[in-house]
Amino acid sequence: MKKISIKAPAKLNLGLRITGLREDGFHSLESVFSKITLSDKITVSLDPSVSGISLRCSGIPSPQNNSNLAWKAAQLFMDEAGMENLEGIRITLHKNIPSPGGLGGGSSDAAAVLLALMKLTDIEIDLGPMGEQLGSDVPFFLLPEQAAFVTGRGEILTPVHLPHFHCVLVHSGENVPTPMAFKLWDEHSGDLTEACPISNYTALNFGVWHEGKPFPVKLDNHFLTLLHSRHPGMARTAEELSRLTDSWGLSGSGPTFYTLFRSEAEAKEAEEHLTGKFPWVFRCQSG
Ligand code: C5P
Repeated sequence: MKKISIKAPAKLNLGLRITGLREDGFHSLESVFSKITLSDKITVSLDPSVSGISLRCSGIPSPQNNSNLAWKAAQLFMDEAGMENLEGIRITLHKNIPSPGGLGGGSSDAAAVLLALMKLTDIEIDLGPMGEQLGSDVPFFLLPEQAAFVTGRGEILTPVHLPHFHCVLVHSGENVPTPMAFKLWDEHSGDLTEACPISNYTALNFGVWHEGKPFPVKLDNHFLTLLHSRHPGMARTAEELSRLTDSWGLSGSGPTFYTLFRSEAEAKEAEEHLTGKFPWVFRCQSG
């Protein structure tokens, strides 16, 4: 039985600006996405004893049925590659990435399943359109590079080089569904000031530390501006992190925040300070 084990990394959004509502109902955005070493572990095998798809999950609870993006990715690959009458697909998923968290966990799982199936079957197929169909963040996780400037609805990717960083992730404990966060933008985008000028990224020097950040501009996120007055836990988290460092931000539509550090010692100190104050605190690195 052929089998592949693969890590599905989480991502952070180093700045995020929503630039408009598109005709297809999605939003256009500008952000820098960076993979980090927090990851889910996925094993995919082609198994003649399985009919269709089998998914077993462990770790953070996750659906073991066709509502899981890992399952959807396997189903889409089977359909596109004409595998209906071939072997079944067995997937085991150990979930470490909180979901929903703004960390792209489900999208990363989907991308990992697509990449594993392409290797296992030796079927050469363009995964890009499948990624876009599965979710706006999936194309980024199909990219081999660690970081990218991202525009469009998430599918236009320009790889960028970021210096290595250490990070501490903090979950506010609240539940913020992504569609609801985008709906807030539809209703209140007029309230936002142009606080995240990251569009002129070609002028930026990405490879170096800049005023304590591995990223040359502010880490502002339009979602934070919209959400923090409505979610007291997010407001409290933002306040606590800003007391600790300038180099902090909200990932995606949250509710996971991050702080970035140059050295492991600084990150460890922050981890100690934050542990116990929030439901989930996790230290990792860019990767
Ligand atoms: O693409 P994905 O399935 O991750 O998106 C979840 C929801 O988030 C979409 O249904 C849409 O409401 C919203 N979304 C958006 N614009 C994006 C990404 C997501 O409006 N660029």
